[in-house]
Amino acid sequence: MRQFDDKSITEAVLARMSNCEDPRFCHVMTSLIRHVHDFVRDVQLTEAEWIAAIQFLTDVGKTCTDQRQEFILLSDTLGISVLVISINHPAESGSAESTVLGPYYWEGAPDLPNGSNLAVGVKGDPTFYSGRVLSNSGEPLANALLDVWSGDGEGNYDMQMPGDVGMKARGRIRTDAQGRYAFRSIRPEYYPVPTDGPVGRMLRAMGRHPYRPGHIHMIVSAEGYEPVTTHLFAAGSQYLDSDAVFGVKESLVAKYARHEPGKGPNGEAMDTPFYTVEYDFRLRPARSKAA
Ligand code: BEZ
Ligand code: FE
Repeated sequence: MRQFDDKSITEAVLARMSNCEDPRFCHVMTSLIRHVHDFVRDVQLTEAEWIAAIQFLTDVGKTCTDQRQEFILLSDTLGISVLVISINHPAESGSAESTVLGPYYWEGAPDLPNGSNLAVGVKGDPTFYSGRVLSNSGEPLANALLDVWSGDGEGNYDMQMPGDVGMKARGRIRTDAQGRYAFRSIRPEYYPVPTDGPVGRMLRAMGRHPYRPGHIHMIVSAEGYEPVTTHLFAAGSQYLDSDAVFGVKESLVAKYARHEPGKGPNGEAMDTPFYTVEYDFRLRPARSKAA
């Protein structure tokens, strides 16, 4: 048969893959074709909508640069990134949950001594973070690495600041022999995902806001354990119930305890109010390579 209608077209496209050699690729493409064809039939897509979709995806591609990944932002705001994370890093009793990496990770943050201030000269309420990195069964993990980054107290990341300000509010801290870590940073504020591109237009057309609740990012890793890409969210922050990228996990919402000016937990004299956050990260053993 060489002529197809709105129903027979799906099996015809699938039949053309009979020489596909990679079984996983074949499986993924078969499902994709079935779902996309079903979607087009379901909404009875018009030609104007089809060309608008092509134009939109073209704009998404054109907006990508070495510093900006509009396709990942599209995936994030459609909940696809969190769906992929949920499938590949399911919550396991007690271990730290994963969430989105986001676009502001910058490899090569400075290695700083445990207890360091990561946010010297960064706007925001001073916050002392501390806790332990443990195995799922509760053994302390010495020399575990926390690669930490956040925006400032007004929700701006160094990469977004005008001029070349270099790295701000970033650092890599290692745990001590008891698995303890400590660092000073700021209390993060909510902020919008980038809205000046096609994804921003899509959010406005959907009647959605672009905000993420206040959070600090970290990748926590230790030899022999699964690394976890995660955040701590500030309890009480606006938008916890409507994160634009669906990244909130209840287990990652941390209490920011407020203190009046006085002595900080490291003995430092604080002349403004400050916050403390205590959080333990539990890691699960690395999956064997064969698994
Ligand atoms: C962020 O956490 O910084 C972020 C995550 C996903 C999309 C945009 C921003
Ligand atoms: Fe962020």
